[in-house]
Amino acid sequence: MKSNRRKFLKILGGGTVLAAATAGTFLSTRTPEKALAPWEMAGNYKDVRKWALSYALLAPNPHNRQPWQVDLSIADQVTIYRDRSKDLPHTDPFERQLTIGMGCFLELLSMAASNVNHTVTYDLFPEGEDGPIAIAKFSQGAKADPLFDQVMQRRSCKEPFLDKPVPVELAKQLSDYGNVITDADQVAALKKLSWDAWMVEAQTPRAWKESIDLMRIGKAEINANPDGIDLGGPLMATLKLVGIMSRESQLDKESSGYKEGVKIYHNMLNATPAYCTITTASNSRVDQIEAGRKWIRLNLMTTALGLSLQPISQALQEYPEMAEHYTQAHQLLAQPGHTVQMFGRLGYGPSIARTPRWPLEAKIING
Ligand SMILES: Cc1cc2nc3c(=O)[nH]c(=O)nc-3n(C[C@H](O)[C@H](O)[C@H](O)COP(=O)(O)O)c2cc1C
Repeated sequence: MKSNRRKFLKILGGGTVLAAATAGTFLSTRTPEKALAPWEMAGNYKDVRKWALSYALLAPNPHNRQPWQVDLSIADQVTIYRDRSKDLPHTDPFERQLTIGMGCFLELLSMAASNVNHTVTYDLFPEGEDGPIAIAKFSQGAKADPLFDQVMQRRSCKEPFLDKPVPVELAKQLSDYGNVITDADQVAALKKLSWDAWMVEAQTPRAWKESIDLMRIGKAEINANPDGIDLGGPLMATLKLVGIMSRESQLDKESSGYKEGVKIYHNMLNATPAYCTITTASNSRVDQIEAGRKWIRLNLMTTALGLSLQPISQALQEYPEMAEHYTQAHQLLAQPGHTVQMFGRLGYGPSIARTPRWPLEAKIING
């Protein structure tokens, strides 16, 4: 093992870590194929509901918890639930973000259906908050939604963006989909806010641990649980192998693994030329669903324009330690009394890998 370790890795002074180029076959086989299979299965179903669902499950959602569950037992209908066992009680105590993720799912479902000539109508929260999120009724006839063309390319880009402004023309086009912020002073203030809020989360043990517990480190963990925060690829495989990257190290503020993580996030959050938000006048469950429907459309449009988008939700989280930053986010980003539902970085990012998904079959609870 020791000689392997030497082959795999060079740790440079100062804690910067580089994977050695000599790592060979081991590293090139680190793709979690099984966890990515649902992307290949999209569009491979005969039943129109399953066909559309196979795309809907590619929706962005907090911590990639994929809380959707569907009942297909009634013809031409999908009853959609949110699986409460996927809740995030510390970082999303009021399930606001999880509800937004369900909104992204609903929008992708109807968008996909429109591409096979079906309209989906929703009855939202038909039994109140504790029942299904929606009953979706499928009927023949629809105009195909062109944003659907971007579904397979869409990502939440968790990378530093190029030092290149978002062109005024593109910002203008995007403003039909969300609020776009490119003003230098505002961008500087939001950069500081997003970093300060990230550090509050990192220093709030129960919130930090909630995210750490959902880390899937390396191929085997990602394939076994294709959700949560996937840390895959050759570099992560190597860091795991040598014991630098582990859930334990991330909980230890003195470890090189934690310090590397802080550096990576600091660089990433700083490399941001613009931001986007979705705000709502009130903050009902229906508003949250609508915010999710808007966010996915914004994300698909950024994809169409060659731009990258990443939600950054720390400042919007609703626990006491974050209250000051939550208030500041609202002062900077919303009219008095309105709610900032989504806050994200916008810019030119690299092309990145797909994130894992549970297969559709794991999400069908009936039918
Ligand atoms: C409501 C909501 C909040 C999110 N918050 C964050 C966040 O704070 N940081 C982040 O990196 N990604 C965030 N995401 C993005 C998810 O992590 C991402 O959608 C998920 O991992 C799946 O990846 P994909 O969007 O690239 O398919 C959020 C997504 C949603 C819908």
